[in-house]
Amino acid sequence: MSDKLEIRESKREELAAIESLYPEAFPDEDLIPLVRDLLNDAVVAMSLVGTIDTQIVGHAIFTRCSIVGDSTNATLLGPLAVAPAWHRQGIGSAIVQAGFRQLENAGVGRVYVLGDPAYYERLGFLPDSLVEPPFPLPPDWDGAWQSRSLGETTTPCTGKLSVPRQWLQPSLWSP
Ligand SMILES: CC(C)(COP(=O)(O)OP(=O)(O)OC[C@H]1O[C@@H](n2cnc3c(N)ncnc32)[C@H](O)[C@@H]1OP(=O)(O)O)[C@@H](O)C(=O)NCCC(=O)NCCS
Repeated sequence: MSDKLEIRESKREELAAIESLYPEAFPDEDLIPLVRDLLNDAVVAMSLVGTIDTQIVGHAIFTRCSIVGDSTNATLLGPLAVAPAWHRQGIGSAIVQAGFRQLENAGVGRVYVLGDPAYYERLGFLPDSLVEPPFPLPPDWDGAWQSRSLGETTTPCTGKLSVPRQWLQPSLWSP
């Protein structure tokens, strides 16, 4: 990983630079409205950027959620994007792990993600069948709904993830 990588919370004036990461990272999906909507809501979203020489090269959002039926403080990770020129240098992992540390200090016990298990398993995520995602997922996305615990929380959570309005769009949960 570049020793010049710095990870910190994003600033309001960085929205355009953050948005510019997304069309390249997700050419088949327009995530900019979601990113914009989440970044305008500092209460629900923690937005971290990775910078190298002041250039934003990666970004992740952690959204504050709750679990209906369980009192554990939960967070949803996503989206996560790294500029293609900077892939495979540990930047995505470093941003996510920095997020884990901040969340753990804030008392969050579990992080959820919908994404490729081949990538997220390296960050400690495992498929989760005990907490339902907000919308039913297609059967061929088996294993894509994952979670990992933070800190000393080891007991599994059960229930259904309740997400803020920004995530209440079925299109975000289907191919
Ligand atoms: C996924 C993503 C954030 C990873 O960022 P990164 O900084 O390259 O990740 P890291 O350097 O921490 O890890 C890279 C490793 O993950 C692997 N990897 C990346 N995406 C992967 C995937 N979808 N499936 C399996 N492995 C994957 C790389 O091959 C690499 O493996 P290696 O270390 O054995 O060479 C980046 O590739 C990206 O922005 N992709 C497009 C958007 C996306 O898919 N976001 C995730 C949403 S589910």
